[in-house]
Amino acid sequence: MTAWRRTHTCGELRESNIGQTVTLNGWVNTTRIYNDQVFIDLRDRYGLTQVVFESDRPDTFKAACEARGEWVLSVTGKVRPRQPGKANLKLATGQIEVEAHELRVLNRCPTPPFEVHSIPQEDGTLADPELANEDLRLQYRFLDLRRPGLQRTLQVRHRMNKVIRDYLDSRRFLELETPLLGRSTPEGARDYLVPSRVHLGQWYALPQSPQLYKQLLMVSGYDRYFQIARCLRDEDLRADRQPEFTQLDVEMSFVEMDDVFEVMEGLVADIFQKCVGLSIPTPFPRLKYADVMLRYGSDKPDLRYGLEIVELSDLGAKMDLPPFREALSLGGKVRGLNAKGGSAKFSRKNLDDMGEALRRAGGRMLGYVKVEDGGKISGSITKALTPELQTELTARLNAAPGDLLLLGAADTQDAVCQTLGVLRQQVAQKLELVEKATRKVAVAWIIDFPSFLWDDEEKRWVANHHPFTAPLDEDLPLLESDPGKVRAKAYDLVINGYEAAGGSIRIHNPEVQARLFRCLGMSDEQARQRFGFLLDALKYGAPPHGGIAFGLDRLTMILTGTSNMRDVIAFPKNQKARDLMTGAPAPVDPKQLKEVGL
Ligand code: AMO
Repeated sequence: MTAWRRTHTCGELRESNIGQTVTLNGWVNTTRIYNDQVFIDLRDRYGLTQVVFESDRPDTFKAACEARGEWVLSVTGKVRPRQPGKANLKLATGQIEVEAHELRVLNRCPTPPFEVHSIPQEDGTLADPELANEDLRLQYRFLDLRRPGLQRTLQVRHRMNKVIRDYLDSRRFLELETPLLGRSTPEGARDYLVPSRVHLGQWYALPQSPQLYKQLLMVSGYDRYFQIARCLRDEDLRADRQPEFTQLDVEMSFVEMDDVFEVMEGLVADIFQKCVGLSIPTPFPRLKYADVMLRYGSDKPDLRYGLEIVELSDLGAKMDLPPFREALSLGGKVRGLNAKGGSAKFSRKNLDDMGEALRRAGGRMLGYVKVEDGGKISGSITKALTPELQTELTARLNAAPGDLLLLGAADTQDAVCQTLGVLRQQVAQKLELVEKATRKVAVAWIIDFPSFLWDDEEKRWVANHHPFTAPLDEDLPLLESDPGKVRAKAYDLVINGYEAAGGSIRIHNPEVQARLFRCLGMSDEQARQRFGFLLDALKYGAPPHGGIAFGLDRLTMILTGTSNMRDVIAFPKNQKARDLMTGAPAPVDPKQLKEVGL
């Protein structure tokens, strides 16, 4: 056996190991050098162990004096109890230490560009050092990945994948792979394209999702499919988006929405229970798109707190406030919410900033009313409130002394939802409602989405989800006459304000699929050219089917409580879609370009 091979990990030794000769491998977390002893905390992803080098073994003592942070060592020695009073109760291995007999330096390391060492905590866990600038950490991602925070997150991610596979396997799902080099699937983003060397001038598209392939698998009779699939979308990045991300992709045959919900609710509950010990009651609430847009101003509301938006257009019409009246005359709305207990928490500057944000989001004006003791009010719109309006407003918003009432208006339904949604989030942030809801998980299905949205630039209807989503049966007749009113058999799963998953019951009738393509402004020839294979497959005995895809990066963010998607991916891209470690994207050899005809 190789002499340096470890017998234990750095998180494993306890008092029961005292007296044993062991070998540990790991990185130097910290060193402390005294006249006759050197202490090295050796670290691996399992923990830290204190190793002591005594001066009566001069060779190992000297070698230990030279060791620096992040060197890789193999230490052989004897486990012994720590000196009386020297036990470190913070550490799982804190009752013992290893008295080193041999030290092998497996590798050296220059001074790292930022702090890498772990810090033992009161609760026995290891914490990250103070974090350096993120770009620097992304450049040296292999070092950043040594910190316990990231290691814990990636372990949760591993556990989640395992729970998913076990759960779906126990329910007769097959894990099947679909191509990366294929034809473009419309999911609303730009495709990443790959030139073909064999067929010059022709291109593969990397999958935005395995959508079409999983539907074809249903036609082929694989009635329960799943895949932990990489998806690639060239889109504008946000904190919860990466160009390359992972979906849990699922499809089922002979199902309605309820069947998909039942299986997925069980899975989500299992994931939260087994990965982070949280119970989520099932079934999950189902909320209609139109209702959540009104009540929360978003189709992915954070339901960990209430802060509901209230329709106030009838009161707004009676207030002598030109911005409200103008918005209403154009078909807009006035809505408001009660920032409970917020009267003293929002400064004039906060309110001005919020008004500015509201205008940026397409709103007209932010009006505010502070309710004081005794019911007296003050604020920006008090002059426009008659005593009757004041009574009505405070009753509608359920106001009590200390509350802050916020009113906003915009010219269109969409803009009013958008602006009030932004306002709701800002208020929640200021009142620290999310912080107060730690470890709370608020899950809901959003249903009854519109099938189509109007694209004002292109002057045509576009699919709200993707064009394979079935309309509600009763809305089918509206496909040609009033597409804007057609609702889809589509659903999103919203967790803590994130769209964690989305899916639908699909069209399995080729005629309906053709009508839908027409509705999107695609001629029959265009549809045949792009999706002929799907239309053909639908003719050859397609079962009713439906499915869903979870964003596993987002799910890991929710499980681990981070708002930065880069924290849940081993090698992420930065906000500009660049991999700072490898430098991708990067120029390639002109010879390679020539080979693919570029
Ligand atoms: P959708 O486009 O809604 O549906 O994607 C499903 C889920 O994937 C996650 N997601 C992302 N995560 C990180 N970065 C991105 N750029 C990104 N884009 C999407 C979200 C989202 O809810 N084929 C359909 C699913 C179906 O109908 O079965 C689809 O891909 O969490």
